[in-house]
Amino acid sequence: MKKIWIIHNSLHGNSEQISKTIAEGLKTDYNVSLNHIKNLTPEDISKDEPYGLIVATRILAFRSDFEMRGFIKNLDLVATLPIPKVAYFSTHALGWKNMFIKGMKKTLEKASCFEEVCPEYLEAKMEKPEGPAIEGSDAKIRDYIATLRNFLG
Ligand SMILES: Cc1cc2nc3c(=O)[nH]c(=O)nc-3n(C[C@H](O)[C@H](O)[C@H](O)COP(=O)(O)O)c2cc1C
Repeated sequence: MKKIWIIHNSLHGNSEQISKTIAEGLKTDYNVSLNHIKNLTPEDISKDEPYGLIVATRILAFRSDFEMRGFIKNLDLVATLPIPKVAYFSTHALGWKNMFIKGMKKTLEKASCFEEVCPEYLEAKMEKPEGPAIEGSDAKIRDYIATLRNFLG
């Protein structure tokens, strides 16, 4: 089975919970690992030679989480083999603006270790910063899992 890593930097648990739902949705067909970036080094990901990486992205102060962007930049520095597929999703609590996620998109596209960035992403809105996700999110997450399966092949 293809190795897929899901990484998050969750404080309130929103992106962790969605990461777990995605892991559940993929695990029948992929070898999925999931962890908080505070428990990982970029080398841990690189040495696993993953086929795919899924990056949970918290929106903080109208931007993609800079700690996660830093982790990706460091992964790009240490990666010894290309990672064929990368995808991302976001959790946020305000009205959605595409500019929130632009920073992460740019970081992924700039990193030379990724061969293909998933053109579609999920944005999951929370009722408030601590969660929970607004009504209707379950269906959106299910659709995103289907998108990921299609993208990962
Ligand atoms: C310091 C801080 C700043 C935030 N800034 C924004 C923001 O600019 N836009 C937004 O939509 N949500 C913002 N949020 C809400 C978070 O994006 C949201 O709660 C997210 O789901 C947190 O993910 P986590 O539960 O995985 O930590 C902010 C939350 C915190 C704590």
